[in-house]
Amino acid sequence: MADFTFSGDTFDLDSPEDREILRFVLSQALFGEATGVYCGKSLYAARSLEAARFYLRQARQELNHLELFAEIFRSLELKPVPAHWVIKLLSAHNNYYPLKVFMEHAVGEGMVLDIFRDVLMQALPDHDPRVEEIKKKLAVVCREEEEHVAWGEKETRRILAESPWLRHPFYGLLELQLAVAPLVTRVFARQAAQHRVLRHLPRFVDHVRTRVWTQGQQLGFVPPTRPGPAYRLFAMTWGVALFVRSQFARSTSTLEKTYLTELGF
Ligand SMILES: [Fe+2]
Ligand SMILES: [Fe+2]
Repeated sequence: MADFTFSGDTFDLDSPEDREILRFVLSQALFGEATGVYCGKSLYAARSLEAARFYLRQARQELNHLELFAEIFRSLELKPVPAHWVIKLLSAHNNYYPLKVFMEHAVGEGMVLDIFRDVLMQALPDHDPRVEEIKKKLAVVCREEEEHVAWGEKETRRILAESPWLRHPFYGLLELQLAVAPLVTRVFARQAAQHRVLRHLPRFVDHVRTRVWTQGQQLGFVPPTRPGPAYRLFAMTWGVALFVRSQFARSTSTLEKTYLTELGF
């Protein structure tokens, strides 16, 4: 269920301007789904049988999403464009598992879900004959993205219980993600104020920020009230340091060492 409303304002799939906007949004989605192959690395490094099962399933789902978005492009007779640098940055694979589950699954795929469920599902016009099929595909994608977010949240909770110090860098990285993500909307800066759908964008960005903030509080690393600049700077510095360090993390497999206990022998 979408919890943001566009008040019934929809794109016009025959207007060149609207088609260009949709082409941009769908191209980011297509790129994001192509990064589903990163699951291969996550499967290799899976810490448990449960994680291995999840990444196997996720890989199949993401590759299916990739093809579903390709079909959406074809049904609308649109041609994809390369992804925005922010999308590339936010969807990059991380070999350091705590950052992988927190940044990519819980927060990253959470925001992806906001766009699929709250923007695309609402702002595509039902009166257009192509939209019914598109929405059926999007509904499948949304249901599966919910699973990926749930995995990210479950693992983030577990990791924070094991290593409570991670709440500081996690908080700093969340601040940074929330600062970087809205930069994508700058592409629309010129048209935003007058456009029927885009004029809702500033409110949508606020909505996502509030939702992610609440998510962080529920996961236990965002304080009830926003901390002052000194703590924010401290947390962001730690977050960046951990992120830089994570770029040198090696991908190692463990299941071939732990499979007997994992299987209950
Ligand atoms: Fe996906
Ligand atoms: Fe996903």
